[in-house]
This record gives sequence, structure tokens and C-alpha cells, in this order.
Amino acid sequence: MSQPELEHWSNYWRSGVQTSLPQDFKENYDGEILSFWNHQVEQLEDGAKIVDVCTGNGAIAIIMAKMAIKLNKKIQITAVDISKINTNALSKRYDRKIMSMINFKSHCRIEQLHEQIEHEQDLIVSQYGLEYSDLNLSAQSMAKVMKSGGRLVFLSHSSKSDVFQYMKVEFRIYEWLEDIGIVGIFNKLVAKKISPDYFKKKVFKITSEYQPPVEFQSQPLFGSWLNLIRQFQQMSDSIIYQQTVALADFLKQHRYAKSRANDMLNVAEKVKDDGWLKPLVLNGLTLKQNGHILYKEKHMAGDWFEFQKVN
Ligand SMILES: C[S@@+](CC[C@H](N)C(=O)[O-])C[C@H]1O[C@@H](n2cnc3c(N)ncnc32)[C@H](O)[C@@H]1O
Repeated sequence: MSQPELEHWSNYWRSGVQTSLPQDFKENYDGEILSFWNHQVEQLEDGAKIVDVCTGNGAIAIIMAKMAIKLNKKIQITAVDISKINTNALSKRYDRKIMSMINFKSHCRIEQLHEQIEHEQDLIVSQYGLEYSDLNLSAQSMAKVMKSGGRLVFLSHSSKSDVFQYMKVEFRIYEWLEDIGIVGIFNKLVAKKISPDYFKKKVFKITSEYQPPVEFQSQPLFGSWLNLIRQFQQMSDSIIYQQTVALADFLKQHRYAKSRANDMLNVAEKVKDDGWLKPLVLNGLTLKQNGHILYKEKHMAGDWFEFQKVN
């Protein structure tokens, strides 16, 4: 992924969310996912060096720091992400003891990890992260920073997760809104290429002509567009002019959210079988164990893997 394309992730973390699934995990990951990561900390020696790659707003790094404090273990965590990590929001949310255990590094690609962090790491962890990288390069880079006998433990998305079924419908909404021309007409209004009067007539024509598929009705994304359309249709021309700055921001957020949904769907395709993990083996890492995590005993949260650098 090139740099400008990743602005959609920086934008997402800037909003202060803690996890990549904020509807399900607002505070942080809990339940079986939390237990999985806590168990990793239980196995660590005092003084262990850990890297959380594709950390986002540090969800897994924070879970591990909290557990280490609970167990009175001294560990050093480096948490990296290619996007801008919102450390301001994190400093307000977590006390200094937790924050001082984690060295956050924004704008760090895993493909170049070996150039940016200390080598001889005991453990690399990641949740919903490695699958977004170019594993041919990131596997090589991770292997370089791991000490001999060091481990890589990660939880990846599973194509069987409920979230992907949901995302597929959501993505069809993004496409449908573009296909029927509604996004385009709002963009033209913001760019002042059309008058508010023409805009309202055109929106009326589009919404009378096209019926949304029934499955869209329950989706928040669809609901937010429906509200937006209704509000703008009722506004006077002068109010419409006043609203264009807010509308431009809404459209920008919409584009970022679509890019994130697109990333996630590409990833779902990539992890359909274990073939995507081959570069790890080619770079000297051996699969020790793997499994999957069922959240609340029924929802597929993802597939986990433990690899070890043998030499
Ligand atoms: C789905 S989010 C997961 C974040 C976090 N681990 C969590 O579970 O909340 C994926 C993250 O991977 C980051 N990312 C994508 N490609 C990357 C790369 N090549 N190197 C480093 N980070 C990357 C994105 O910026 C994003 O923050």
C-alpha cells in the first residue's frame, strides 16, 4: 500500500478509537481475545522484548502492558504502525505506568522493521495486521529483528468471520451509492459546480428512480446516507451553502471508510487459505502451533499462529 492510501488508517486512529472493531470492542478487546494475549504474557521471561506490529492505537500492546504490570513482570514493548498512532488520546486514557512500558512508533512499515527497531526481539505479536502487509518483505524484516528461538504470535482475520459478511453488504452500499450517482451529486454540490436548487431536483430524481435492496435497510451506513439526503432536501438554499464545509468533511470520512472496507475485503480474500503464510517459512520461521479464537464461544474472531525462529 502506498503512503497516501494509508491516510485512511491515520484518519481512523485520529478519531481516538481503541480497536479496529469499535462496534464490538469499544474499550479494548475482551473475552477470549483478551485471554489469548494475557496467556502470551504469562509465558514471557522477565526482561523480554516485544514488538506489536500494525498496532493501530496500540490495543494489543496495552493489553500486554497491563498484564505484565499485574504479574509484576518487566517487559519492553515497541508498538509500530505505518499510520499515525494517536498517542495523545492514549496518554489521556491510560496511566503513565502503562504508557511508559510502550515505545510507540508511527509511520513504521513492517516491511522495513529491521531498519527502525532494535534487533534481538523475543516476541513479535500482531492482531489483524500482518495480512495487510506485503508478507514477502515483512517476513524477511521480522526474521531479522527476532533473536534465535524468538517467536511470532499473531491473530489474523478469518474469511469465516461475521464481520466480513457484514462488510460485503456494506461495500455493496458504497458501490450502489456511487452507481446511482448520489455520491457524485453531493461532491458536485461541495465543489460548487451546481446550484442548491439543481442539486435538490437531481437528488429527488435519483431517489425516485432507484429502490435500494432490502438488505441495505438495516445497515448504519445506509441509514446515515438516508438521513443526510432527507436533511438536505428540506434545507433552504442559504442553509445548504452554510453546510458545505461539514458536508465536505462527511464525504471525506465516507471515502476513508470505503478505503478501509476495501482493505478488509482484500484481506479476507488473501487469508482464505494458509498459502499466504509461505513467506514466513521461506524466511526461517517454523510453525509451532495454530488454532482459531471463537469469541463468546460462537463468533469467529480469527485464526492464530505461533511461529519460531529456529536458528
Ligand atoms: C485492522 S488494523 C489493526 C490494528 C490493531 N492491531 C487492532 O487490532 O486494533 C490494521 C493496521 O495495520 C496497519 N498497516 C497496514 N499495512 C501496514 C504495513 N505495511 N506496515 C505497518 N502497518 C501497516 C494499518 O495502518 C492499520 O493500523
